[in-house]
Amino acid sequence: MIKIKSVSRIFKSETALTNINLEIKEGEFVALIGPSGSGKSSLLNIIGGLDSPDEGEVFISNKRISSYSDLELSKYRNSSVGFIFQEFHLEPFLSVKNNVLLPTFFNHPDKRRNIC
Ligand SMILES: Nc1ncnc2c1ncn2[C@@H]1O[C@H](COP(=O)(O)OP(=O)(O)OP(=O)(O)O)[C@@H](O)[C@H]1O
Ligand SMILES: [Mg+2]
Repeated sequence: MIKIKSVSRIFKSETALTNINLEIKEGEFVALIGPSGSGKSSLLNIIGGLDSPDEGEVFISNKRISSYSDLELSKYRNSSVGFIFQEFHLEPFLSVKNNVLLPTFFNHPDKRRNIC
């Protein structure tokens, strides 16, 4: 379950999100659409724990990730989020398989030898 309550994100010169409210229930398949610059990436970055809102709250499975520390956000991203970025951000020195496996390098030390 994803719940967004009154979320705003303001960059220095731009307001990316203003008072966003959204609820996505478990099992729902949702596409976020809109013109360039409408705030899709800004909202996904917040839901994915890459960024935090300036105002409002974000709940994932009833946990308030908008108040998480940097370390807590890192753990949340590692265990609960799968990203395919617009700019990809793949590691060029790893195979496709090992790019996919990379998160296990950080949270499953016993499996590190599978990645080289
Ligand atoms: N790091 C940033 N610093 C300053 N302004 C930003 C930053 N990130 C986004 N913005 C601004 O916030 C607004 C929303 O941008 P965002 O990238 O979320 O839009 P988008 O819907 O993902 O666009 P696109 O379809 O082009 O990917 C834009 O006006 C953008 O210029
Ligand atoms: Mg975008």
